[in-house]
Amino acid sequence: MKEDFVYLKPNVVIEPLIAGWYAWSHLISPATAAMNITGRHLKIIDSYIQAPEIHAQAIKNPKMLGGPFMDFGGKRVDEVKDLREKTLRQQKDLLDFSQAIRELNLLLKNKAKGYSLESLYPEIPELLRGYVELIYDLNNNPSFRLFESLLYKSKYYNPSQQSVSMWLTENDERPFVLSTPRLREDNVLDFQIPFNSEQIDDLCRMKRTSQSLEMIKQKWNIDTTQETLFESFFTPQGPPRYQRYQGENVRMRYFGHACILIETKELSVLIDPVVSYYGYQQDINRFSDVHLPDQIDYVLITHNHQDHILFETLLPLRHRIKNIVIPKTTGGALQDPSLKLMFQNIGFKNIIELGELETLSFHDCAITGVPFIGEHSDLNIQAKICYHLKVGEFSMLFVADSNNIEPRLYEHVRKITGEADVVFLGMECDGAPLTWLYGPLMFSQLERDKDSSRRLSGSNFEKGKALIDVFQPREVYVYAMGMEPWMKFISSIKYTDESNPIIQSNKLIDHYRNEGKIAERLFGEKEILYKKKNHSISQELFQVTSDSK
Ligand SMILES: [Fe+2]
Repeated sequence: MKEDFVYLKPNVVIEPLIAGWYAWSHLISPATAAMNITGRHLKIIDSYIQAPEIHAQAIKNPKMLGGPFMDFGGKRVDEVKDLREKTLRQQKDLLDFSQAIRELNLLLKNKAKGYSLESLYPEIPELLRGYVELIYDLNNNPSFRLFESLLYKSKYYNPSQQSVSMWLTENDERPFVLSTPRLREDNVLDFQIPFNSEQIDDLCRMKRTSQSLEMIKQKWNIDTTQETLFESFFTPQGPPRYQRYQGENVRMRYFGHACILIETKELSVLIDPVVSYYGYQQDINRFSDVHLPDQIDYVLITHNHQDHILFETLLPLRHRIKNIVIPKTTGGALQDPSLKLMFQNIGFKNIIELGELETLSFHDCAITGVPFIGEHSDLNIQAKICYHLKVGEFSMLFVADSNNIEPRLYEHVRKITGEADVVFLGMECDGAPLTWLYGPLMFSQLERDKDSSRRLSGSNFEKGKALIDVFQPREVYVYAMGMEPWMKFISSIKYTDESNPIIQSNKLIDHYRNEGKIAERLFGEKEILYKKKNHSISQELFQVTSDSK
């Protein structure tokens, strides 16, 4: 190896940010982003400036985890004031845009009374004109549809607000990122760089392929003040070489939360990528980047929640992803922005939209989109799909957070897909209330009891059992529980033995074990080999490493 050739260390966090906040999918699509800046960011900022101590107290209370509180211990108020001023200045276009959306909503509320909407077009707020179509639903309730593709081409999509922060992590601890902005830290380097920049791919290739340190410093325009810290992100030591799976079976590897890698000797499929860092002391074993193939044939995305579309994992993997499969959406609604446009605009290629009961076939593998119901607070959101994955004669069903509120649905589905040998089911059955995620998009206040009745909750025991019984699997795995410590910063979940999702999933596991099936709640890491034929035989290579059932 040449003298100054180095690799990117495996514990370098490359954190994507938008206007100083952790980047997640609702901050990309311009209209949805605009509503979040006013309804989430500025609200939290104002609240912190007004009462930083209340935030500091709330953060200490585990019940408030995931609440709208900044994790700065009541300090750094001046910096938060600066962030406010910067937001008002740099985000002015989007702030005006969200105001215009609110005005449009009022216009429709006051003037759209069932007559033709044509006469209202001249009254649409100026900056929204040409970007919306006014519509009624079949009950004559007025609404609007945004031309998102045009908005991405307008000044309302501003990649210059995108940046990445880089630092070395030595543990899994991080504040809840939807509520705490990122202020300047001495050990963190910030680079104003759009997410679609190939500079990110170039850097992330260095996890596996060494490059000249001088060269990468030049490419990233590192000045003398950044030099020492930047150099500390690299090492002459290469990672262990990834061993491609060469066997005749299907290999399943659980990476934590809803992230599962399926490999055969011909192909690799990675579902809902969320991958932990490594290279520091860890109590809980986990698979990480070194266990991912050099090229991932298909990434499958189940739904548009921040713990299932994690840019922090996806951007560094982008250059290794051959195809990305997403639920088919029409877009145009604040609560359901187009995933295709979002992925295109942040630099992903070969995006495949898969509809319900549509099948993607290659080699001896078929991926079928299966309806995903509930878990979205009864809002009209189509960006959600489950996957039925068949390899040879062996089949797996990934249900993610689908909440089986209508068991007849999966009875219909089973008639088309057939049974499944293995079912992976999320059981975060408490869920947050509607406003936790969708509050900034709402035009009118929802009463507290209504809000808490419309939750982002997955299946409980009864609903999970009804789903599983339909597909008659031999093995049942509860996953996507947000339990791994490296998920906490995005899932804001910390269970105890008394937590309802734990009680419900224990009950489900006990139930199926009593029926003689293999059942387990996944935690940490897990590897299983399955035979493509004669699928009743499964062979466990090693057990999970911690306290899962
Ligand atoms: Fe979800």
